[in-house]
Amino acid sequence: MTGEIITLQIGQCGNQVGKHFWSQLTREHGIDKDGQSTVQQANDSQDVREDDPTIFFRQNDHSRFTPRALMFDLEPSAIASVQNAFPGLFNERNIWVSRDELGAGNTWSRGYDYGLENQEEFINMIDKEMDATENFEGFQLLHSVAGGTGSGLGSNFLEALSDRYHKKIVTTYSVFPSSESEVVIQPYNTILTLRRLIENSDASVVFDNDALLNLATKVFRDRNTSYEQTNQLISSVLSSVTNSLRFPSYMYNSLPSIFSTLVPTADLHFLVPSFTPFTADFIPEVRDFKRSSAYDVVLDLFDKNNGMVLRNNDTPTYLSIYDSILGPVDQTDITRAILKSQQRIKFPAWSPTALHVNVGKKSVYNATPDSDRVSGMMLANTSSVNSLLQGACSSFDVLFKRGAFLHMYQNGRMFQNGVDEFVESREVVQSCIDEYFAAEQESFLDDVLIEDENMVGDIDGLDADGDNII
Ligand code: GTP
Repeated sequence: MTGEIITLQIGQCGNQVGKHFWSQLTREHGIDKDGQSTVQQANDSQDVREDDPTIFFRQNDHSRFTPRALMFDLEPSAIASVQNAFPGLFNERNIWVSRDELGAGNTWSRGYDYGLENQEEFINMIDKEMDATENFEGFQLLHSVAGGTGSGLGSNFLEALSDRYHKKIVTTYSVFPSSESEVVIQPYNTILTLRRLIENSDASVVFDNDALLNLATKVFRDRNTSYEQTNQLISSVLSSVTNSLRFPSYMYNSLPSIFSTLVPTADLHFLVPSFTPFTADFIPEVRDFKRSSAYDVVLDLFDKNNGMVLRNNDTPTYLSIYDSILGPVDQTDITRAILKSQQRIKFPAWSPTALHVNVGKKSVYNATPDSDRVSGMMLANTSSVNSLLQGACSSFDVLFKRGAFLHMYQNGRMFQNGVDEFVESREVVQSCIDEYFAAEQESFLDDVLIEDENMVGDIDGLDADGDNII
């Protein structure tokens, strides 16, 4: 049985993205905005379902579903907007808004300290939700790395999750700020959060607001792009990643089976998403009239204009790729596209056949004019993510060299004794960047194996039977 997944939504961005994610999932599983199943109304038997809504929803009685979601914020507006969009859908006990309702003022340390102060309550909330699972599989955490709550409280959650539930898979969907940061200290928040993404998550799917806004302009044919639009792009990725779990198939029917194909070594776990075309199954108000075959879709996913992170490099190296292709697919198209990609795309010598494709199902409960059209999502583990990581470091260095705005963090518990945490976080991010560059080299896996042989008694990443957790 595929295990259940709990979604943690943190801060303004995390909750707004979550709103669109649940909108997509309720449509795909035939669930009304208040949690009532429309499938049950149509026919009485559970057996006829070809989907499994229970991965992401608790089933309270025959026909009522509640998301396995917990929402956290330091000010009420984003969560209120989610609740207004779905009155009665969410479990009220899974919602936490700080009593002072002041927000984290864009400061990582404030969000982080709220996490420390309330950790027992948060763990209790998570434990209660876990009690309602039979075969709990892992968490997905939605947040921005730049605001105070998503970054600081999100970082604290990541530490707590890996400490307390270290055998469960933790994935993040992390939104990076646009290059013209709205708030001057965002680079600090980003580097401090990146350290936790590197050390405490198993896989992080990353988005940047510059790429999202460019893509939204194209998809919605609208120059005045909004977060509402970018969040629909993100939720299309989120729902596609787990299509093979929710519409069970023989392959890729658990989070570890997807992410183990993507993550060659524990440090290299940043995944860059692409999506094309955005059919009405994902964004109802958008009509893209170009009809693509599965062959086109697999190749188009490599086009940087369809990516959700900007990249500097036109010929990036791909360490591994997972595609979720949905719709009526001719299997020979997929085979041809894989062969073509292997000729066109740069894979490192140690990973020559790193493209994995799952042909998933579109939901029969979400019938749209585009139900018979192919769409695709790609998660790529690529060294081009260094554009994002190096950009974050450069912005950080400019501020930190001058000691600018450090006083905003000095009351934080982590900074009582100075700014070491900034220095260490910057070093951790640098070593991840270096690791991605090293991974482009032919000898990379030899080096990793030598390092492993020299390591005595390091059982991180192994479960009780010695199997890889991811
Ligand atoms: P505080 O406001 O300090 O309490 O923290 P927060 O985590 O709630 O802040 P927020 O989530 O607003 O994070 C700010 C960053 O997230 C900025 O880079 C924004 O551009 C980005 N952001 C905020 N909301 C959204 C959203 O709905 N979608 C996208 N794509 N980005 C968002």
